[in-house]
Amino acid sequence: MGVVSDVRINPSILSADFVNMQRDLQRIGQADYVHVDIMDNNFVPNLTFGLQMTQRVQETSPVPLDVHLMINDCDTWAPTYAELGVASVTFHAEATGDPVATARRVREIGARAGVALRPGTDAAFLYDILDEFDQILVMTVEPGFGGQAFRPETMPKLSALAAHARSVGSDVWLQVDGGINLDTIAIAAEHGADTFVAGSAVFGAADPDEAIVTLRGLGETAYHRHAHG
Ligand code: DX5
Ligand code: ZN
Repeated sequence: MGVVSDVRINPSILSADFVNMQRDLQRIGQADYVHVDIMDNNFVPNLTFGLQMTQRVQETSPVPLDVHLMINDCDTWAPTYAELGVASVTFHAEATGDPVATARRVREIGARAGVALRPGTDAAFLYDILDEFDQILVMTVEPGFGGQAFRPETMPKLSALAAHARSVGSDVWLQVDGGINLDTIAIAAEHGADTFVAGSAVFGAADPDEAIVTLRGLGETAYHRHAHG
């Protein structure tokens, strides 16, 4: 066993102070990736920021970026975000016209490709195309806003995905996003999540870096219960 953690904590800058972004990026040096929520007030009823802001965060952040596109026109935009040099680009299953083609374009550019599922979206269509993706994002809230409550009814979908991935020897990362905090991270990890987005739980803490370390410890312990249990 290596010393590197098997789980990743990706703070969402949706909960950062938008006029003190550089300061807030410096408060999350312990993060594995910085989660960047792109919303278009169309796929979701909220608007955040776009390509230029992401480019400046990419240039400023010491930690690589994990981009989450909550936009309708994701087949056009996913490769454009990948071109910024970010680590990963995740687009929504409900928005894409061709998930495999878009994932392949993202990968060709050199980013990890992810596909995201709203709470009500079934994961079964992914089973045959799992190796087209580097990560799958199981939304644990309805996308659009930070600070919502974790939805436990999404856990059977996560468990089934984790079991399927294991049965075919896939090393796809299983990410959860929404309502992840000190009380819920272990639930998601026990159901097979290995990558955790947390907005309010990190930036709402007095010491964001300390919150990241605590969350990672809780996630890791519970993930090992899942993996060896
Ligand atoms: C919600 C976003 C999330 C959000 C999570 O649509 O995708 O990334 O920032 O925020 P918390 O952790 O506060 O639920
Ligand atoms: Zn997100």
